[in-house]
Amino acid sequence: MGGLNQDVLNLLNIVKGDVKLKSLSIKTRGLDLPLIQGGMGIGVSLGNLAGHVARCGGMGVISAANPGYRQPDFRKNSLEANIRALKAEIWKAKEIASGRGMVAVNILYALNHSGELAKAAVEAGADAIIAGAGLPTGLPQFTLGTDTAIAPIVSSAKAAALILKAWKRKYNVFPDFLVVEGSKAGGHLGFSLDELVSNQAKPLEQIVSEVAEVIKPYEAEKGQAIPIFAAGGIYTAQDIKRAVASGAAGVQIATRFIATEECDASPEFKQAFINARQEEIILVNSPVGMPGRAIKSPLTERLELAGRISVKSCVGCLKTCNPATTPYCITEALSSAVMGDWENGLFFCGSNAYKLDRITTVKQLISELTH
Ligand SMILES: Cc1cc2nc3c(=O)[nH]c(=O)nc-3n(C[C@H](O)[C@H](O)[C@H](O)COP(=O)(O)O)c2cc1C
Repeated sequence: MGGLNQDVLNLLNIVKGDVKLKSLSIKTRGLDLPLIQGGMGIGVSLGNLAGHVARCGGMGVISAANPGYRQPDFRKNSLEANIRALKAEIWKAKEIASGRGMVAVNILYALNHSGELAKAAVEAGADAIIAGAGLPTGLPQFTLGTDTAIAPIVSSAKAAALILKAWKRKYNVFPDFLVVEGSKAGGHLGFSLDELVSNQAKPLEQIVSEVAEVIKPYEAEKGQAIPIFAAGGIYTAQDIKRAVASGAAGVQIATRFIATEECDASPEFKQAFINARQEEIILVNSPVGMPGRAIKSPLTERLELAGRISVKSCVGCLKTCNPATTPYCITEALSSAVMGDWENGLFFCGSNAYKLDRITTVKQLISELTH
């Protein structure tokens, strides 16, 4: 059901007050607050942010996109540096969380070493792995027989159907939850540039209801609900109510968590979001092969003029990237950004990033979002 009918239904649910976030159980754990802090690479969501979100009862997510970027051997030995750093960030988050909430890891399936990173996350005791950017059809092999939950991020019912079918056929496994990400999100987007530019992408609420239809037979077979978390542009408590009214059991929010003291990025990175104006939020092409949303910056302006910035050194992070032809190095651009290099950084952001006007704390933000 789309368009007006869906809107009317959502409104009715909001009026009825049937839109509260309710605690969930996910695999072997309880999640008091069904609010996921979305994974943000490179280095934006690591153990500190994820740990504090979990401590408030939510699901904190560590990004597994080059978490070792600050390790001394990162350029020479990136896989080992990343695995070492990822495990350390999971342990740090778990210590901060003190047993509350859940600590998850976000793995981009466009990464060359996604399997090794999934294995490391399980070994370090991550409560969940959330897989984005790419089709994570082999993910269950790393979590079978463990307490680590798994979830794909999808932007269409078609992608959800493909992944669920593959997991069932290959491993007889169902996802523990799903993240449905709409076109207002930050980072890489599961829509074509044409759809995004012409505003033709389906509204988030509609994708949530379509994915809910796809998972129904799987839920019946599993004998258990598979919760959906809606993501992309969720900014206020009212937005959360709208997402729940459309059938989501929870939400995933990323951009708002950048403007917190606990966010793992540099103060200069956070300030770029406070400074950003609405007209400075743009769409960019990424070497991942998907469009992304970012703040207009000296790097995006140089790219627009020159078309390409040649790669100085390569750590071989992406399956899809050829350093000889790629428009720019995504690892270089994102790690420059997180360290606060305004000239050379790529600052991924959600469509509502321009609304950020002050730094708060995770506790205050979650309290604002849930009241
Ligand atoms: C700076 C930044 C980095 C991101 N990095 C990743 C990532 O590494 N993997 C991923 O699956 N999603 C990534 N995302 C997407 C978020 O996890 C989230 O789903 C999305 O941004 C939600 O929309 P919102 O930012 O409007 O709340 C990133 C988003 C931002 C803003």
